Amino acid sequence: MCGIIGILGSHEVSPQLVEALKRLEYRGYDSAGVATVDASGQLNRRRAVGKLVNLSDRLVHEPLPGHAGIGHTRWATHGAATEANAHPHRRGPVAVVHNGIIENFRELRDEVISLGLTPESETDTEIVALMTAWHMDQGNSPVEAARATLARLHGAFALAFLFEGEGNLMIAARKGSPLAVGHGKGEMFIGSDAVALSPFTDRITYLEDGDHAIITREGAEIFNAAGAPANREIQQIDVGATQIDKGGYRHFMAKEIAEQPAVLGDALSHYIKDGRIVLPEAINFADVDRLTLVGCGTAYYAACVARYWFESLAGLPCDLDVASEFRYREPPLSPKSWAMFVSQSGETADTLAALHYARDKVAKTVGVVNVGTSAIARDADIALPTLAGIEVGVASSKAFTCQLAVLAVLALKAAHDRGRLTDAEQRAHLEDLRALPGLLNQTLSVSDECRSLASWLSEAQDVLYLGRGPLYPVALEGALKLKELSYIHAEGYASGELKHGPIALIDRNVPVVVVAPRDALFDKTVSNMQEVMARHGQVLLISDAEGIEKGGHGTRASLTMPSGGGAFAAILYAVPMQYLAYHTAVAKGTDVDQPRNLAKSVTVE
Ligand code: M6R
Repeated sequence: MCGIIGILGSHEVSPQLVEALKRLEYRGYDSAGVATVDASGQLNRRRAVGKLVNLSDRLVHEPLPGHAGIGHTRWATHGAATEANAHPHRRGPVAVVHNGIIENFRELRDEVISLGLTPESETDTEIVALMTAWHMDQGNSPVEAARATLARLHGAFALAFLFEGEGNLMIAARKGSPLAVGHGKGEMFIGSDAVALSPFTDRITYLEDGDHAIITREGAEIFNAAGAPANREIQQIDVGATQIDKGGYRHFMAKEIAEQPAVLGDALSHYIKDGRIVLPEAINFADVDRLTLVGCGTAYYAACVARYWFESLAGLPCDLDVASEFRYREPPLSPKSWAMFVSQSGETADTLAALHYARDKVAKTVGVVNVGTSAIARDADIALPTLAGIEVGVASSKAFTCQLAVLAVLALKAAHDRGRLTDAEQRAHLEDLRALPGLLNQTLSVSDECRSLASWLSEAQDVLYLGRGPLYPVALEGALKLKELSYIHAEGYASGELKHGPIALIDRNVPVVVVAPRDALFDKTVSNMQEVMARHGQVLLISDAEGIEKGGHGTRASLTMPSGGGAFAAILYAVPMQYLAYHTAVAKGTDVDQPRNLAKSVTVE
């Protein structure tokens, strides 16, 4: 979602602002802009709709001098993706960039209109600039004016302010949405994340909820929500871990799919040592009476797969919900239960709010997160990193399989803690898990066949995905991937549910992708597949060699997967889901890494 950068530098900052915005592109955006204060104290801005290259072109023809500046990539919430709605928003001496939503903006908008001011855009952000400029008009300093405005804002936001005539001042504020301050030598920075700041500094302070910072080239003074000075740690970040390049691949997503054997291996080695599970001591499921699993999108589907494992292996009753529903449906939660929140970014607004809802109602909250410095990692009682490394492609791939790996380890721990698995049984399951990186590596070879199948799928209007048991959420994930990347309508169904309605959609034009390893439910899935084929449905069966031999007759195509993975075979089947969507998108010529309308971390409701 929106990206923020701010620099009090020692050179021309426009190129640096654009470079940093490029590093924030992966979050998703539909317009961009920068503002600077030049040597004479003049505040100017340039904005452009669409990709950053449009802003760069603009800057070539209309350069923006200055050693102080702020920049923004906008993902439209209030108002369309137009230049007028793009950030920075400027009013009088104030320029503002913003990530998040000002929830009381209509009330504030009415208020500024009643003061005789006229908003020029449809955005909530412009109201912040208007109010701050108004306070300055009343004789307040920039700091006093920004503070007076901040005190009125409700909602979740990260904000950066720049002021005319103030070449050595930026103000940053955070409530909900993430924001970091970067410390340089005689230079200071602000940014949405460490990825944006890493070309400039490896010394970072993460602002906490309610903080605001007064920043000059000499340093940052940070104040907490009560307005008192706050001491926030400067962390040394591993710049290597923030490197983002395609490593020779055509798209970040292709690289991230191919990285899965390695990162899955890293995640498993972190949690399994010498054939034993290594987790924080506080993790013991013996007395847990219920587990609630919450996430959004792909992270939710990872939670769906994990429910099968927690229930069948550990006998632990599970509740499961998407965060946007969970947070508002007032679910009663047992004080002996645990709640687990799965998120790649760790910043998803709904998942974070769901965690906040649960935290004083359950015995323990656990965050299963990829970004270790994120809000969910900080706010959960226990944070477990999924160690997938930076995922730039907006469509999740390696983050999903690493989430599954960590959840699988947790399910095995729960099964052992609850006396459902002996040491030896647990070890056997751990061996299945440890075999997965090697099997995933073999699975990558389905890429070529998926490329061949893509011309068929890319012609389709609708595609159905079917699976049973843990493969049902994998089918849901396959459909989500295809929708996100290729904009083809796709739905996932539990195979047994097909005859209760969706079978009406079947004709010879609807490809039906069936994910079915040769397991206890295989024959039932094959029966459902027969029902599809009897109605001229065109089936792609994805199974192991034994499954293809037994059930492949009459299908339009099949993909042979390696057998293995035991109870966790579902993890392998994520790969053909990813490649089918990826190659279909490439065949259709859509934007693989930044699909339209999507954002990488969704920090608004
Ligand atoms: O960062 P999170 O895992 O919390 O994000 C949740 C979803 O927004 C995310 O998984 C989304 O569905 C992806 N685009 C899926 O590819």
